[in-house]
Amino acid sequence: MNKKWTAEEVPSQEGHVAIVTGSSSGIGEEAARILAMKGAEVIIAVRNLEKGDAARNRILEAHPHGVLHLMKLDLADLQSVREFADGFISRFLRLDLLINNAGVMVPPYSKTKDGFELQFGTNHLGHFVLTARLFDLLKRTEGSRVVNVSSGAHRMGKLDFDDLNWEARDYSAWTAYGDSKIANLYFTRELARRTEAEGENVVITAAHPGWTATDLQRNSGIANFLNNFFAMSVDKGALPTLRAAVDDEAESGAYFGPDGIREMWGHPVRVEPNDLAKNDSIAERLWKVSEEMTGERFLS
Ligand SMILES: NC(=O)c1ccc[n+]([C@@H]2O[C@H](COP(=O)([O-])OP(=O)(O)OC[C@H]3O[C@@H](n4cnc5c(N)ncnc54)[C@H](OP(=O)(O)O)[C@@H]3O)[C@@H](O)[C@H]2O)c1
Repeated sequence: MNKKWTAEEVPSQEGHVAIVTGSSSGIGEEAARILAMKGAEVIIAVRNLEKGDAARNRILEAHPHGVLHLMKLDLADLQSVREFADGFISRFLRLDLLINNAGVMVPPYSKTKDGFELQFGTNHLGHFVLTARLFDLLKRTEGSRVVNVSSGAHRMGKLDFDDLNWEARDYSAWTAYGDSKIANLYFTRELARRTEAEGENVVITAAHPGWTATDLQRNSGIANFLNNFFAMSVDKGALPTLRAAVDDEAESGAYFGPDGIREMWGHPVRVEPNDLAKNDSIAERLWKVSEEMTGERFLS
């Protein structure tokens, strides 16, 4: 039987710079902790600086030699995303790892500052713009990688290109969450394709954490309650993301998730998204629409 993958497999990250979006709690905080423990300089990229500072202090308490920088990033506000990227580029000469982890799940209907439905706008479009703005630096950093954090809930997603902001339909928060998470996989697919076509060496992977007890379930009473019985702890839940970030056998497009029943629990292995998430023409269409919605073009 193959040895189970654990955080011990993460190699030294000395000399590396990593950004983890949404690392003020949950899987992002844990991924930031492990990367800092392994020697990476880690940017805690958060919308709430107070919460981010508390996460940074928790990590430093466990690993006093960790190098962690706190930076403001609100993915539901594209101006904030652009300011974050500008600020990062002015301070750092390299970017080895971009973990697009931040997310919201099933909030009541609301919109981002730019008028996008909140889940699609935060989970997909915010990360689209962030990646676009940082891509030149990623290209210049040898061995760099982007990890997009999706979900088993991508199976509930089916993008309606006529109404991405849910203005014409009755809002279904779960479907909208699934849409944003299948969008993470289309983005991974199309970014990998375009990166390879341009002959760039950035590796693009994706992960999903199964079912992990975090703040994510705050908007769903039932999911929050069931956390007590079924969810993994955050140290386990962060492993697929970490494996997607460092596995040196992972080629662009590789997707990692837990190896247990229905990929809800367990240790990280290579997994497959559903067939709809592998549709290249939808992936390409989403890219073009994302460019139009945000005004951000890259690898075009
Ligand atoms: N937990 C699971 O079972 C599970 C399953 C499948 C997929 N996932 C995915 O895993 C990722 C991490 O979630 P988690 O479970 O660790 O939940 P979490 O503890 O709630 O973490 C989500 C993070 O995203 C941040 N965030 C939300 N909106 C943001 C915005 N507009 N700008 C910047 N940051 C923002 C949150 O910041 P605040 O602290 O300010 O709210 C928080 O730090 C998400 O992409 C989620 O979809 C989780």
